Amino acid sequence: MAKDPLRVGVLTGGGDCPGLNAALRAVTKTLILQHDAEVVGIRDGYRGLVERSVQPLSYQDVGGILTRGGTILGASNKADPFNYQPRGGADVSAQAVSTCRSLDLNALVAIGGDGTMSIAHGLSDLGINIVGVPKTIDNDLAGTDRTFGFDTAVSIASEAIDRIHTTAQSHHRVMIIETMGRYSGWIALHAGVASGADVILIPEIEYDVEEVAQVCFTRQQGGQRFTIIAIAEGAKPQEGERVVREQVDKTSDSVRLGGIGRVLADDLEDRLDSEVRTTILGHMQRGGTPTAYDRNLSTAFGARAASLVAQERYGRMVALQNGDFTTVALADVANKTRTVPLDSPLIASALDVGTSFGVQNLDDELPDSDAPAST
Ligand code: F6P
Repeated sequence: MAKDPLRVGVLTGGGDCPGLNAALRAVTKTLILQHDAEVVGIRDGYRGLVERSVQPLSYQDVGGILTRGGTILGASNKADPFNYQPRGGADVSAQAVSTCRSLDLNALVAIGGDGTMSIAHGLSDLGINIVGVPKTIDNDLAGTDRTFGFDTAVSIASEAIDRIHTTAQSHHRVMIIETMGRYSGWIALHAGVASGADVILIPEIEYDVEEVAQVCFTRQQGGQRFTIIAIAEGAKPQEGERVVREQVDKTSDSVRLGGIGRVLADDLEDRLDSEVRTTILGHMQRGGTPTAYDRNLSTAFGARAASLVAQERYGRMVALQNGDFTTVALADVANKTRTVPLDSPLIASALDVGTSFGVQNLDDELPDSDAPAST
């Protein structure tokens, strides 16, 4: 008797990022070409599982989307089945499970960040066969050195800083560029170093506003009449608070950050003669075409996730560690955040070329550890 074909659902959860379509294409094409599978697209992240909103995905459906930003399936960060905001925060996970059963899905591929992987872990405990694919511009997912979307966000932020550099020079101003990064400063660090920011402020290092003002003042005195500051949205001053732009009810992550750059501008204008301006990059960093690196990473992750499904290796996320592709248990990813280690070689190189991290002596903040550092 002929075996029923493998049927696999795929969804893109959480906030969108460049490379989601490339990953969808890779998952779908690999499953169809290599494993004769049928692929079902779940719309708007986990919402589609709860509401049974799905569409078949054929080989042709994912043609021509490799370079396109966003996600053809839609995404949602308000659709956690364990805390389902469209129904007042109810636990509707049983409904998500029943959709998987009624669609005859053998497995589900969940493409997303920390929230998506935590939900995937929860559904896997309820008996759903799940494989995770890591995305987020923030690069803060545990278990992998890289998420796709990060490289694109860094290149957008870096180009923005380059452009602001020239106008800063013309007007002799202090220019602050605020990047995304709620709990981790990966984007601010990588874009800041790439574009020669004079000061880089990240959530992992609480900054001293007097020290930041001193850097601007010293540059001015030395004839460099402008200063470039890259700051992550989650950064905060010593003895200060993160800047919460908005508190929203209908989501499991209710805090929207944004605006620390303006707070810093006010603090600096009180201390300096120079004019200070702030640019908040916001969702610019999440939109548009992925870089070649992100397209390749999405393709490799997506193809590997399809192979994991075919091998019935469930409850795992594909990952990149020390340059090699591997997998990690969803249990080891769920509810964790990967922050920038203070002994990161990139921080060390930035310090060597005179970049400030907003504190007088970063050595005081360094952990006593022999653990290998991430860049
Ligand atoms: O998780 C990625 C991220 O870009 C964060 O850095 C940012 O705070 C958040 O998403 C914003 O999400 P949204 O505005 O889509 O709710």
